[in-house]
Amino acid sequence: MFRATKARLSGTFPPQRMTKLAIVGAGKVGTVLGHVLLENGVKIVAVISRTRRSAATAAKTLRCKNFSDSFSAIPEDVNLILIATPHESVERVAGEIALLTNLSFRKLVVCHTSGMLTARALAPLEKKGATVFSFHPLQTFPRDFPVRKVIPSARGIYYGIDGTKKALHIAKRLARLLQGHALHIPPSKRAFYHATCVVASNHLTAMLGVVETMSAQFGLSEHRFFEVFQPILFSTLRNTKLSSPRKALTGPVARGGIQTVTDHFAAVKKFNPGLLPYFGTLTLQTVTLARRKGSISPARARALERIVHSYTISRSKDRP
Ligand SMILES: NC(=O)c1ccc[n+]([C@@H]2O[C@H](COP(=O)([O-])OP(=O)(O)OC[C@H]3O[C@@H](n4cnc5c(N)ncnc54)[C@H](OP(=O)(O)O)[C@@H]3O)[C@@H](O)[C@H]2O)c1
Repeated sequence: MFRATKARLSGTFPPQRMTKLAIVGAGKVGTVLGHVLLENGVKIVAVISRTRRSAATAAKTLRCKNFSDSFSAIPEDVNLILIATPHESVERVAGEIALLTNLSFRKLVVCHTSGMLTARALAPLEKKGATVFSFHPLQTFPRDFPVRKVIPSARGIYYGIDGTKKALHIAKRLARLLQGHALHIPPSKRAFYHATCVVASNHLTAMLGVVETMSAQFGLSEHRFFEVFQPILFSTLRNTKLSSPRKALTGPVARGGIQTVTDHFAAVKKFNPGLLPYFGTLTLQTVTLARRKGSISPARARALERIVHSYTISRSKDRP
């Protein structure tokens, strides 16, 4: 009662077409999005997973008594199905749901949360008359974190969507219901969009791993390194948010500091030569950004690029 009233007051009460939700794939994404929808007045009518164990765990969190490892547990009055299985199984799952005889497909909305797949993955359901779209949460939900720690990060996020005009309209309403926003991704650019998400999250984590590895050389432990680097990391993000990567860029490359950059490469070669390809590639990207910033001349950019190549190309020649 309280939840529904709160949702109505905030203007997010579920539209008629999205009041009864079945979650298929009771992992991190299914459980977290299900929880935010529950908070906003959607009733979870079924939780289905590959194993009953996962289904039961998620169902408990989502206050749903109907859980199963079989699609036949999806009740006939369902009007929204969220498929949050690994992307390799989305098409198979869609095909199996399309075979259910108790569902009114014409009244059904079905979406999947894969970053790689488009709405086409749900073609068997669309053929039956369901409204289908892709609905990829542009957020990272680490599997090892408890659900309650992840839920706050699911509010106010973007969802990468595609589908027919009618489907996009419903996808946008679903994003609003989740207190988020929709971002239309042309199907032909889906893989590129997903690669961009990988750069934003996974490559950022990899970069933090590099900082951790490098700072171990001057005595910082796995736990200490973040405390030490947090101010510079957060300021970099904040400065970028307030302006742009180009304007936020500082440092030796942006200043065209040939000697400093040369010394950096010599130090990386000495203390962790395995990082030279990474350091080289990112330095080249920094040179490109410094050119866009207009802080270095074309000649200075070429000189910096030569330093990078002298360390990275000679290294690959050194390999057996
Ligand atoms: N994690 C993220 O950061 C993130 C972010 C955005 C989008 N996504 C996408 O969202 C989807 C789910 O990701 P996730 O991180 O939640 O994965 P996950 O934690 O591994 O959960 C996937 C769930 O799907 C279930 N499952 C697997 N095959 C199934 C099938 N054939 N039928 C029914 N259930 C099945 C698994 O069940 P059992 O546990 O019973 O084996 C598991 O609970 C993926 O497509 C992923 O690419 C993930």
